[in-house]
Amino acid sequence: MRAVIAPEPGDAEALRIVDLPVPEPAEGEVLIGVRAVGLNRADILQRQGFYPPPPGISDVLGLECAGTIAAIGPGVSEFAVGDSVCALLAGGAYADFAVVPAGQVAPIPAGLSMIDAAAFMETTCTVWSNVVMVAGLTAGETFLVHGGTSGIGTTAIQVAKALGARVVTTVGSAEKAAAASALGADVVINYREEDFAPTLAKAGIAADVILDIMGAKYLASNVSTLAANGRLVIIGLQGGIQAELNLAALLAKRASVTATSLRARPLQEKAKIVAETIRHVTPMLEDGSVRPIVHATFDLADVAEAHRLLEASTHIGKVVLTLS
Ligand SMILES: NC(=O)c1ccc[n+]([C@@H]2O[C@H](COP(=O)([O-])OP(=O)(O)OC[C@H]3O[C@@H](n4cnc5c(N)ncnc54)[C@H](OP(=O)(O)O)[C@@H]3O)[C@@H](O)[C@H]2O)c1
Repeated sequence: MRAVIAPEPGDAEALRIVDLPVPEPAEGEVLIGVRAVGLNRADILQRQGFYPPPPGISDVLGLECAGTIAAIGPGVSEFAVGDSVCALLAGGAYADFAVVPAGQVAPIPAGLSMIDAAAFMETTCTVWSNVVMVAGLTAGETFLVHGGTSGIGTTAIQVAKALGARVVTTVGSAEKAAAASALGADVVINYREEDFAPTLAKAGIAADVILDIMGAKYLASNVSTLAANGRLVIIGLQGGIQAELNLAALLAKRASVTATSLRARPLQEKAKIVAETIRHVTPMLEDGSVRPIVHATFDLADVAEAHRLLEASTHIGKVVLTLS
């Protein structure tokens, strides 16, 4: 089968499409015949050598896919060969076939194409597990997500609106600001033109929950933007890993800071996240209040071009690879 690896760290040219044996599903796993793969910023980091796969996980890239079940491992009863499914993986999705623990696989929600279905598992599981399961966002609260037109951001805006929150977001251009507004964001700040913290403070807006992808660079501004009892959840470190934390500000607000990663969690935790996410987000996908935003699709053969697009960050939503 065809599979994409990055044998040496580097730019998009470092990607190689190689021929590998079709993997066999072990106990509790299914084999998926992959039709489409969602790209994630983590794939770029893995290719560059900064985000190796967890121990025991394939070095083939790719954290999410959609396709049909091609084989079932021992002990799996909830799926049958031929089922159309989408899946969250710790690695291995950029290939004709991928093995996945059954707990990280779900039927494709009604009305979604294979391409849409490949583009929502990683972002919805990340958003639901952090924004709802960790931070407990509820209707009427104010939610700030940075990078509102990223894969994560486009999902977070829609899910938070569907939950009844007021949504604030940051983006890097006027075009992205318009897209974030169209997705339902109530307040959009172009971070290249103004600092979000003083702008929000001036407008009297504090955030009950912040989903952050910038890490160190935004830590102080995020803490100053939190409301009393606010919850800051850090999931990305695009702006660095080390910063000073003003504990007095946290203490005065009775606020919390959490940081999480989805990929390397134990299987049982991931299965729980997938089950909770699918249970709550599927109705939103099916009634149209949340939809995968697919910016562009590329054939697997053009994987380097797809990576270049994601790195250029001109996309709004997700970039997807198709396999035929
Ligand atoms: N912890 C986890 O489990 C987990 C899971 C999934 C994703 N993530 C993280 O979530 C982040 C987004 O992932 P993705 O796949 O959705 O990536 P993506 O689509 O490539 O988006 C990256 C975004 O970062 C934005 N950005 C860059 N600098 C910014 C700044 N100073 N202020 C605000 N936004 C800024 C970019 O906007 P502009 O182009 O406009 O600058 C772009 O929209 C990544 O950091 C990723 O590692 C974490």
